[in-house]
Amino acid sequence: MCITRPPEESLMSIAREVFGCGSSNQTFENTNQQFITASSEGNARAGSKSSIRGLGPFPLHTDCAYSDPPPRYVLLRSVGGRPSCPTTILLFEKLEISEQLRQDLSSGLWICSNKRHSRICSVINPGFVIWDTDCMRPADKIAKRASQELDEKLGNATVVEHRWNDESSVLIIDNWRVLHGRGTARYSEGRVLERILL
Ligand SMILES: [Fe+2]
Repeated sequence: MCITRPPEESLMSIAREVFGCGSSNQTFENTNQQFITASSEGNARAGSKSSIRGLGPFPLHTDCAYSDPPPRYVLLRSVGGRPSCPTTILLFEKLEISEQLRQDLSSGLWICSNKRHSRICSVINPGFVIWDTDCMRPADKIAKRASQELDEKLGNATVVEHRWNDESSVLIIDNWRVLHGRGTARYSEGRVLERILL
């Protein structure tokens, strides 16, 4: 979902308004707010996607897939730099997958980890989907097979592109149902997105 708000309004206050919560609400006390800069591997924050992929495209993924559960919503807004690199979006349930693959994504086991968290998980879970090839690796045969097949499906999927040429646009992603990524940032080095995870 994309909404329009004046750029001078803080993203946090937009989040409060959209989700109808007051400042004392616990959801907001646990809020993670960051500024994400498109940068080369060498200039990127350690552990970030840019430190792995640099200015190349980011494949479709769930933000913070290693968290259990991952944040429900991701709010994004462009706050600086050359914004030519689009964010790509795919509603997972729109992906045409076979019943067999659906079962494998529900029953296969993946190790999902970053520096601080590590857990065993499946891709399709009751209530949410998680996927991120940068922090998930197959832990059994079913997952190995399913990973390959899902990767191919996602690579060929038709995605929606959100272009950041309007600085008043705020993108709200349902991180439990929607995967997102980005195109190449070769011409957008230094692009900054403000992000709030809820
Ligand atoms: Fe992301």
